[in-house]
Amino acid sequence: VQPTDSLLEVLERFEVLLLERAIPLGLVSKTDSDRLWERHILDSVRAVGVLDAPAASGCDIGSGAGLPGIPIAIARPSMKVVLAERRRTRAAFLEMAVEELRLPNVIVHAGSASAIEERFDLCFARALASPVAAWTLAADLLLPGGRLVLWSGIDSGAGDELPIGVPVESRSNAGLAHGGALVIMTKQ
Ligand SMILES: C[S@@+](CC[C@H](N)C(=O)[O-])C[C@H]1O[C@@H](n2cnc3c(N)ncnc32)[C@H](O)[C@@H]1O
Repeated sequence: VQPTDSLLEVLERFEVLLLERAIPLGLVSKTDSDRLWERHILDSVRAVGVLDAPAASGCDIGSGAGLPGIPIAIARPSMKVVLAERRRTRAAFLEMAVEELRLPNVIVHAGSASAIEERFDLCFARALASPVAAWTLAADLLLPGGRLVLWSGIDSGAGDELPIGVPVESRSNAGLAHGGALVIMTKQ
């Protein structure tokens, strides 16, 4: 990120990459072309507003086209963000996006999140798996007291049961037309 770039400008450049690169690669649905900002970028960045204390590190598990990890990393340049993505085409898109947007706080892990040895303050899971499966992956990656932010809603296992014995909070969706509540689970 150049010193002159505002966060908004960088988010807008990411929107252009989604439109011109991710959609042709099939990483984001073509039907979302005219609603990328609200459906994907604002939906990702809203996690920043629900987290009270600043976190030093986060891992986006199953980042796909960089959602939610890239918008969060743009909004929180002091947070180190690892984008974990096991599919090669997607990881290559992420590498390209990190380079084009010049995001020094972002690292791409091309492989399964379960192979990451580092531990994080936060994990993010959007359209990844059921809450129980997402928690199983995140619990191993979190530091004690660390939190998983799970996007409940379309394609993310909404209605599935939450893991038993895990402290859970729910934060509603800040007036967005898309996306369900954010569910926050804490590792004890
Ligand atoms: C449906 S996509 C969602 C992508 C993105 N989070 C979003 O909201 O658009 C789920 C992604 O998770 C990736 N994935 C699933 N399990 C994974 C794992 N254990 N480690 C890394 N990536 C994983 C898949 O390859 C896929 O790209």
